[in-house]
Amino acid sequence: MKFLKILEKRKSIREYKSKKLSDSHFDLIDSLSNNLPNAVKNQGLEVNIFKDGSIISEKLDGIIGYHGIMIKAPHYLLIFGDENEVAYKMTGYLGEWLVLKLTKEDIGTCWIDVGANDRLIKEKLNLVSHKSVLGIIALGYPKSDARVSSIYAENDDKLISENRKGYPNTDIEYKDNIVSRRKPIEDIVFLSKWGNKITAEELDTRNYDEVFYYMRLAPSWTNRQPWKFILDGTKIILYIESSEQENNNYELIESGIAMLYFEVAMHGQGIPGYWNLEKLEDEKKYGAPDNYYYIGYYTF
Ligand SMILES: Cc1cc2nc3c(=O)[nH]c(=O)nc-3n(C[C@H](O)[C@H](O)[C@H](O)COP(=O)(O)O)c2cc1C
Repeated sequence: MKFLKILEKRKSIREYKSKKLSDSHFDLIDSLSNNLPNAVKNQGLEVNIFKDGSIISEKLDGIIGYHGIMIKAPHYLLIFGDENEVAYKMTGYLGEWLVLKLTKEDIGTCWIDVGANDRLIKEKLNLVSHKSVLGIIALGYPKSDARVSSIYAENDDKLISENRKGYPNTDIEYKDNIVSRRKPIEDIVFLSKWGNKITAEELDTRNYDEVFYYMRLAPSWTNRQPWKFILDGTKIILYIESSEQENNNYELIESGIAMLYFEVAMHGQGIPGYWNLEKLEDEKKYGAPDNYYYIGYYTF
C-alpha cells in the first residue's frame, strides 16, 4: 500500500483487543524507533514503548486524556525530549510518522492529551529521565467494532456540561460515525494572502487538490483542525490557530502532524520539497489574524 493511502486508512482507535502485539510487530517498533526519519534526527527525541500498558493506564487515569479520561490500551509509546517549541513540533511529526507506519500493519493508535503533566507522569511511572514526556500514543490491535468516539458513551453528561461551559469538544457529535468530519478545502487554503479563497480550478491546475484532500485527514486535538495554508509561489506557509489555553503544547504537536501529512501528500503527488521552520522576514505581509501563528513554510 502506498504511504499516501495510509492517510486515508488511519483513524483514532479508542478501544483495543486485550491481545498483545506479536513479536514481529514489537521488532518493527524497535527498528522504527532506532531509524527515525531525517527531519527528526538530531532533535534529541527518544521513543520508548511501554509493553505493559496496564501500569500506564491505571497510573495515569484521571491525569491525561480529554477531561482526564485515559484511553486503555495494551501498550503505549512515549516520546521524550527537551521542552522547547521545536521539540514539540517534531514530536508531532515523529509520533504521527510512527502512527502511519503502524496503521499500515493494522495496528490501532490514538494520541493522548498529555497537557502540562510531565512531572506528574514521571512521578507516577517512577521514570528517572532528564528529558520530558512530550507525547503519548496508545496502541494495540483495534476492537473490530470500535467506533470513533464510543469512549464518550458513558461520559456524555460530563462532556455536555463541559460543552456548555464552552469547552471545545467536537467529538461528541461523531458518536455514530466511523470517520470524523473535516473542514472543506476552501476553508483551509488561501492564495497569496489570508482570506483570499482559492477556486477548485486553481487548486487543480497546481495539482494541489489531492494534496489538500489528504492533508486534511490529519488528526488534531478534539478534531479542531487548526491549520491554514497560504500558497505563495514555491512557498506554502503553515499557520496554526491558537486555542488561547494556557498550555499550548498540543498546538505544536498538531503543527508537526500537519507538516508530515502535507509532506507525505506532496511527495505522493510527485511534488518534492521540505519544511523550513526559520522565520520569514516578510511574513506579516500575508495578513494572518492575531489568533493564528506562523509555523514554517514548505518549499520546493
Ligand atoms: C495532540 C492530540 C491529542 C489528542 N488527545 C486525545 C485524547 O486525549 N483523547 C482522545 O480520545 N483523543 C485524542 N486525540 C484524537 C483526536 O480527538 C482525533 O484525532 C480527532 O478527533 C480526529 O479523529 P481521527 O483521528 O479519527 O481522524 C488527540 C489528537 C491529537 C492530535
